[in-house]
Amino acid sequence: MPIFTSFQSSLPKLSSMPALLLLCSAAFNLQAYAQAPRGPQVPPQPNIPVPTTPTPTTQNPVPQVPVAQTRLETLGQLIFTDRNLSVPAGTACVSCHTAGTGFASNHGSRSGVAQGSIAGVLGLRNAMSNAYNSFIPAFSFQNRPQGVVAVGGHFWDGRADTLALQALGPFLAAAEMNNPNAESVVQKVAAAPYAALMRAEFGNDIFNNPTLAFQKLGVAIAAYESNSGFQSFTSKYDAFVQGKATLAANELRGMNLFRDTRRANCVSCHAMNPNSKDPRDNLFSQFTYFALGVPRNPAIPQNANPSFFDLGICGPVRSKPALTANVPNTTSIEDFCGKFRMPSLRNVALREAFMHNGAFKNLSDVIAFYATRNADPRRWYGPAGVPNDLPTAYLKNIVNDRPPFNRPANAGPVFTAAEGDDILAFLRTLTDGYTTNAVTTTAVPPTVTTPPNNPRGNPFGRQ
Ligand code: HEC
Ligand code: HEC
Repeated sequence: MPIFTSFQSSLPKLSSMPALLLLCSAAFNLQAYAQAPRGPQVPPQPNIPVPTTPTPTTQNPVPQVPVAQTRLETLGQLIFTDRNLSVPAGTACVSCHTAGTGFASNHGSRSGVAQGSIAGVLGLRNAMSNAYNSFIPAFSFQNRPQGVVAVGGHFWDGRADTLALQALGPFLAAAEMNNPNAESVVQKVAAAPYAALMRAEFGNDIFNNPTLAFQKLGVAIAAYESNSGFQSFTSKYDAFVQGKATLAANELRGMNLFRDTRRANCVSCHAMNPNSKDPRDNLFSQFTYFALGVPRNPAIPQNANPSFFDLGICGPVRSKPALTANVPNTTSIEDFCGKFRMPSLRNVALREAFMHNGAFKNLSDVIAFYATRNADPRRWYGPAGVPNDLPTAYLKNIVNDRPPFNRPANAGPVFTAAEGDDILAFLRTLTDGYTTNAVTTTAVPPTVTTPPNNPRGNPFGRQ
């Protein structure tokens, strides 16, 4: 598939399409997808860390379901958890979006990227959480004081504008659920125990129109993913914001460092405000795009080719988006190559792999990367010490204009290993399902201190 094709938002007739071969791909720009050859995108690779067989069907917990669920949401849940909707059978949406692993799982793959329904077939990217997705706006370019930014959209490259469109991609992606076409998915739904629910919701004739029926699967899944089971706001942090829990000393130190705009400055991207009870102020993402200089993941099959690069917004999975008319003509789409959409950090401590390419398997490593990317680039990029997962032409797109990324190497790490542990403790307070018996009526309001000045302590990591 060409990296840059023209951007088309119209939906061609699904019934006339061959299979989509893209990772969890969106159902727009289908004409471009349709040019791709049929068959697994990536053959099983014998020389990469061998993923285990896809997780057996009953082990994945489903997210906590709210007491009252609409019929449409129930239908969405039945589709989302139906393991018969893959080829071979066994892989459902829930296989890669399990609550117990932060609503994201790579389906038995330890390589940092997801394994599809065929054992050993790996995709290009790390699974993303599908929780808190109902707050993600459609993709757009926006003029902001700091310049033009890209915002919103579902997927690491924002290529699906709505959850209903997003949900159609995985069914047909060879490295995910691997169905040959939309009709075959609809046929299986028509034979499923919940077919009657489909008819009740969308009309008795719904299965006579497979194109429409396929779109309605997305509508049902989107309704389910938008319910409060996926947006529960039940973490310790939420209890703290509501005055129903206190943070431990290390969690509080971690939060203050997270918000310290002169040092860790996580808050400048992963937006949060403990003084606000509005959930939208505490999503831990602005859903904007950055190139962070994440190290290359050699376990990704495509990366065996040294000239292959995942450029996020610029492809190869998404086609080149046109800049909108309000964007100054001094900006070029090339300025966005290598940028990926920041995810929410809610439930992040449960995840098995981190960043778009799953280069990190450990949350402590992510935190250490932020602390030492500038101070110790060899630790992350090997002897050359130069970001190694972008072509040279796009290295200039890597963020370096703000803490923690605006320090010269000789200024040392941004924060110490002990302080990194505090951030880790804080991130663990973002895990949903917090319960306490110690809820008191004398609620303690969040104590939010002014970020401290930069104390230099023990350097972070291997020095
Ligand atoms: C084999 C694993 C796998 C399966 C099965 C799977 N997904 Fe995904 N999901 C992924 C990966 C990988 C990504 C990121 C892909 C990308 O950015 O190109 C993703 C991304 C998403 C996102 C975007 C989240 C965000 O923050 O933008 C949503 C929503 C989602 N999947 C829902 C679903 C639904 C609904 C299904 C079933 C129809 C499904 N997934 C099936 C692996 C999977
Ligand atoms: C300049 C904006 C920016 C800043 C500052 C920033 N992040 Fe991020 N963060 C991102 C983006 C963008 C991604 C996704 C990058 C990718 O995958 O290529 C990300 C990803 C992550 C992830 C991985 C999430 C996942 O599901 O894979 C974690 C964890 C994280 N950030 C924590 C932090 C912490 C802790 C700090 C402060 C030390 C911080 N971030 C500072 C933009 C930022």
